[in-house]
Amino acid sequence: MIDNLKNRGQWATRMGFMLACAGSAIGLGNIWKFPYIAGMNGGGLFVLIYLFCIFAVGIPIMICEFAVGRSTQSSPVEAFRKLTSKNSFWQIVGWMGILSGFVILSYYSVVAGWAMHYVFLSVKNFNGATNPEVISGFFGALYSNGWVNLFWHAIFMLLTISVILGGVKKGIERAARWLMPILFGMMLLLLIRSSFMSGFSQAVSFVFSPDASKLTAAGVLEALGHSFFTLSLGMGAMLTYGSYLSHKTDLVKSSIIISIMDTAVALIACLILFPVLFTYGMSPEAGPGLVFKSMPMVFSQLPGGTIFAVIFFLLLTLAALTSAISLMEVVTSFFIDTLGWKRKTATLLPGFLIFLFGIPSALSGGALSKFTMLGGKNFFDAMDYLSSNWFLPLGGLCIALFVGYRMDLSLVKKEFKENSIFAKLFTPWFYCVRYLAPLAVAIVFLYKIGLLKF
Ligand code: TRP
Repeated sequence: MIDNLKNRGQWATRMGFMLACAGSAIGLGNIWKFPYIAGMNGGGLFVLIYLFCIFAVGIPIMICEFAVGRSTQSSPVEAFRKLTSKNSFWQIVGWMGILSGFVILSYYSVVAGWAMHYVFLSVKNFNGATNPEVISGFFGALYSNGWVNLFWHAIFMLLTISVILGGVKKGIERAARWLMPILFGMMLLLLIRSSFMSGFSQAVSFVFSPDASKLTAAGVLEALGHSFFTLSLGMGAMLTYGSYLSHKTDLVKSSIIISIMDTAVALIACLILFPVLFTYGMSPEAGPGLVFKSMPMVFSQLPGGTIFAVIFFLLLTLAALTSAISLMEVVTSFFIDTLGWKRKTATLLPGFLIFLFGIPSALSGGALSKFTMLGGKNFFDAMDYLSSNWFLPLGGLCIALFVGYRMDLSLVKKEFKENSIFAKLFTPWFYCVRYLAPLAVAIVFLYKIGLLKF
């Protein structure tokens, strides 16, 4: 093991750590994905089940990741080695995390690129278009234009790399301390704007009143899968952020606050999007194109719509950036901790490789649209499907099993209870980690393989 603790960073403040974690958690998953899956699953009851998954599975696993990271002060591969042995099987969990980070960032950057492109389209007011077909046509045109996708993908990767080059304190923490307050401010502004719309009360009852008729078993499983993605769990991102943490911090309290912030943003995103949809008589079941196809259309009809459209897509870009940073840091910290590289090389080389690996995703709507895998999915969809449906839940399951059964119990207790106002919750938490979380993920897997049917 190469011991180069000096090469590693540390958070300067607890606030910085919290904002960086919130920045990782709050991303495209909250603003782009959550509203449309909530919409497709009928709202209320789905939201309730999602909240349950966050509290019963998500928060307990986040605490596990922080505990493994902080107790070893190492990135995933080294962390599992330190807690077991150099050739232990558990380090595979770390390797899988690095692979997931690599894969997720490669296509995440392409979606972030769309958000950036839409900032410019909004500034240009979509060339004055007001017709829904013309406006949704912008998305199709962008999706199939390989060069434009490549251009924004490159720009977004450069942005991410430049933050990571700055290191933990001067890069990640500083970016989070600046960007997160801006992000919260923008959300508040958009929320105030949409609360004046006539569809607001309809949106509130859609999001908060349970309606069982639209919910399916697949929807319940989707809620669980999404709780991993949205909290950045299952690939060692939170583990890595926890490894830059001192022993003064209350892990349990931090996990709860971060998760509440993440959930609040997802719900507020619904309250920003749905009123607009209801006001203009559009369906909340529009699917993945919801944000890119209908938001601009709606903005084009509102007084002052342009400025709100610009703010909305900037918000999406910033949220994506602080998440991408955490994905990149997992990869970079591996090269620093395990191979002993300098941060500069450990950022530039993998950053460039991730850019290259993202090229087929950037071209998936255009030149490579006929290239399919995994039963008809294009490269972009296949990467998204593989990582969020398989890698992350599998990683989360392994981390829960590791902390529940393999890690030294006294160390687990120490990490959980140290300076924690929630020390009394150890037993219920450990119960979730040992039984509830693994069971929930196992059910999802059995269902997906087709061994379990509802
Ligand atoms: N949580 C982010 C979102 O909601 C995405 C993300 C960032 C992520 N880092 C991650 C997902 C690590 C899984 C693992 O958009």
